[in-house]
Amino acid sequence: MDTFSLLARYDRRLPRYTSYPTAANFDTRVNARTYRRWLGAIPEGSAASLYLHVPFCASLCWFCGCNTSVVHSVGALERYAAAMVAEIERVAAAIGHRLPVRHVHWGGGTPTALPAPLMQAIDAALRRHFMIDGATEIAIELDPRTLPATAEADLRALGIGRASLGVQDFSPLVQEAIGRHQSVAETRDAATVARVAGARSINLDLVYGLPQQTVASLEATIASVLEIEPDRIALYGYAHVPWMQKRQAVLAGFDLPDAAARLCQQTRAAAMLVEAGYRRIGLDHFAKPDDPMAQARGTPRLRRNFQGYTLDDAAVLIGFGASAISALPQGYAQNVTRTIEYLDAIETATLATARGIARTAQDDLRSRIIERLMCDLTVDVASIADAAGMDGATLDDAWPQLEPLETDGLIRRNGAVVTITEAGWPFLRCVAACFDQYLDPQASRHAAAI
Ligand SMILES: C[S@@+](CC[C@H](N)C(=O)[O-])C[C@H]1O[C@@H](n2cnc3c(N)ncnc32)[C@H](O)[C@@H]1O
Ligand code: SF4
Repeated sequence: MDTFSLLARYDRRLPRYTSYPTAANFDTRVNARTYRRWLGAIPEGSAASLYLHVPFCASLCWFCGCNTSVVHSVGALERYAAAMVAEIERVAAAIGHRLPVRHVHWGGGTPTALPAPLMQAIDAALRRHFMIDGATEIAIELDPRTLPATAEADLRALGIGRASLGVQDFSPLVQEAIGRHQSVAETRDAATVARVAGARSINLDLVYGLPQQTVASLEATIASVLEIEPDRIALYGYAHVPWMQKRQAVLAGFDLPDAAARLCQQTRAAAMLVEAGYRRIGLDHFAKPDDPMAQARGTPRLRRNFQGYTLDDAAVLIGFGASAISALPQGYAQNVTRTIEYLDAIETATLATARGIARTAQDDLRSRIIERLMCDLTVDVASIADAAGMDGATLDDAWPQLEPLETDGLIRRNGAVVTITEAGWPFLRCVAACFDQYLDPQASRHAAAI
């Protein structure tokens, strides 16, 4: 079957499977009381990872799907930081003992939108209530356009070991369309600041499928990105979801690249990165061969969580801040999205949990299968079911859904081993979706799968 027919058949709106069940399946049956109970059941000594959501930026990029807004008032930033400190104290009290921490991730938004003393106050609260030491990997998302002059000292004070910098595309036409002007030089300088401050690993984010973007603009962007020599590169497909992220409506005036154009951009960008020596990881990541993520490829050490691909193996992920999601052995709990509602909840001495889902044994089984597919592009369904002590027959709904994908050459099946073919790589989410028991084919809240 030719590519256009494949796209017509499979380009659906699907989750990115950074979790299973996905955030689309969360509801209000999980609340602050549930979350407090789950926290209290975490066994002493369990390894944890911590996510901090800072929903502020200096200005908004029209394409951005993140939960963020522009706030310049120092008072408002102080109020948010104080709420995060209070949340850290309350969560730690609910746990009842200090957990050793594997990873800390400062995300957003743009975490450095908080003045350095406020970030340090949050960091100090984390260190008081959790065990953070030299072995803890501390990562941050940085906007190269707005790094403060004091960034080098600030990042060092926080112990940053890994930094992720947004690029998207360097073409002036694309930048004008998405409202984000950023030069190669300031990106290179920001990477240097992060490296000098102690970041051993630098990631750059690229996006394809943006307005005004072409294969040629992506080629030029990638040539510039390669000069900066990042250790990792993320190549995301633009998720156009204006019904969820109103700011994206600004882009409706442009002809967005269609599915065929998106596929061409993704294929060419991936080929360039592989030619340049990067190893392709899962759906959308690339890493230098000596990067630990490249070395973990094809092993169970490569994992997928809300931050995307990761080497984090902690069984407990605790999210702080507006919209942050926690993943505990019992299920997922998400804080209320709007900053003002988050502040209200924390300031009235409770937790800010708004929704979530308790995971069943069946969810755990499907979660493992989907995670291995998203990481390894192959999965032995029977051995995962056996290891979980589950009856493989409970997955019988998946096989008929996989049949057309096999007929169309997107997967190969050998007994219960499902492997994505080279042609099937862009359709990875379609394969994972066959194991998703919750997916509503009529619902369209997700972004395009290709
Ligand atoms: C939370 S942002 C943080 C980056 C930082 N604030 C900056 O702008 O450099 C992380 C990344 O998410 C990606 N992203 C944001 N919105 C997206 C969308 N609608 N579709 C695909 N990727 C998106 C971008 O690549 C962005 O760099
Ligand atoms: S891409 Fe970064 S700077 Fe732009 S709006 Fe999103 S989080 Fe803010």
